[in-house]
Amino acid sequence: MTSLSFDFLPAASTSADRFVAFFNHQFMPVATLVFVGTIGAAIYFAFRYKRKREGEETPYIPHDYRIEFTSVFLVSVVVAIMWWIGWSDYYEDISPKPNEYEINVIGQQWSWQIQYAHGKSLVNELYVPAGRPVHLVMTSKDVLHSFFVPAFRVKQDTVPGQFTSLRFTPTKPGVYDLFCAEYCGTSHAGMIGSVTVLAQDDFQKWVDGTYKAPAKGAATGVAAPQLTMAEQGATIYRSKQCITCHTVDGNRLVGPSFKGFFGSERELVNGEKVVANENYVRESLMDPMKKVVKGYPPAMPTYRGMLSDEEVNQLVAYLKSLK
Ligand code: CUA
Repeated sequence: MTSLSFDFLPAASTSADRFVAFFNHQFMPVATLVFVGTIGAAIYFAFRYKRKREGEETPYIPHDYRIEFTSVFLVSVVVAIMWWIGWSDYYEDISPKPNEYEINVIGQQWSWQIQYAHGKSLVNELYVPAGRPVHLVMTSKDVLHSFFVPAFRVKQDTVPGQFTSLRFTPTKPGVYDLFCAEYCGTSHAGMIGSVTVLAQDDFQKWVDGTYKAPAKGAATGVAAPQLTMAEQGATIYRSKQCITCHTVDGNRLVGPSFKGFFGSERELVNGEKVVANENYVRESLMDPMKKVVKGYPPAMPTYRGMLSDEEVNQLVAYLKSLK
């Protein structure tokens, strides 16, 4: 059935491979069968039951429960199977993988800002290693945007005031389109970028600033910045006075220590338990009274309006580094 393939887009991720396989080998044959069957039956009946002469009476045809039940049952089974394939592919897409390469993305009117762990920021240019799972931790500065890479068959909204995740594993080195797929204002259509997939050793060179793109010849890598994202976060930790109430060595001050904090389970004053993830950190910075940890006074001031989205990402990177 591969003759029914519609490969009009490059497929450059494991998600895209699964999507194309499903579309070409399951969805298209079934859709073709249903189309031909329905239209064929309509044409056949149009001739079979055509009124042949003036005054001919229409035959009275009662319904048949066996045919009705069978057809509804068969269609339900086919739909259920398709749902199952779609759901398991989707579940595979969104599940965390070991050894993920994490990158921060911030949508804004009308560009994508991309923050790398090694400290550099780029606009509208995402570089990712081939063959390694990538995890984008995304947010927005203003309105809803949607991060869409057709060649990867993945798309995820970015939401102001919240972190969302997008996961994919690129397979083929190359340059692919990046679009915003949520109408976000005047220049929505211009919110376009590129995703460059590099082989793993090229990607390492790119991080080190020594990568030479084949066409350009000159080194286009990002020169190693002075500070990594975690180090930038450490600077904020000191300059914004987090250091006054939170240690990084496990000792208790006014607030809990940040050592081993990220990813740990926190018990709140109301007995509820939460995991200290990106969204929890942001909420605690902007709305500190909402989820106070048990055994500590509600003494934290809000940082609303005092930290940019980039700085929140840098702080999170720093917290992650405090194992
Ligand atoms: Cu951003 Cu459309």
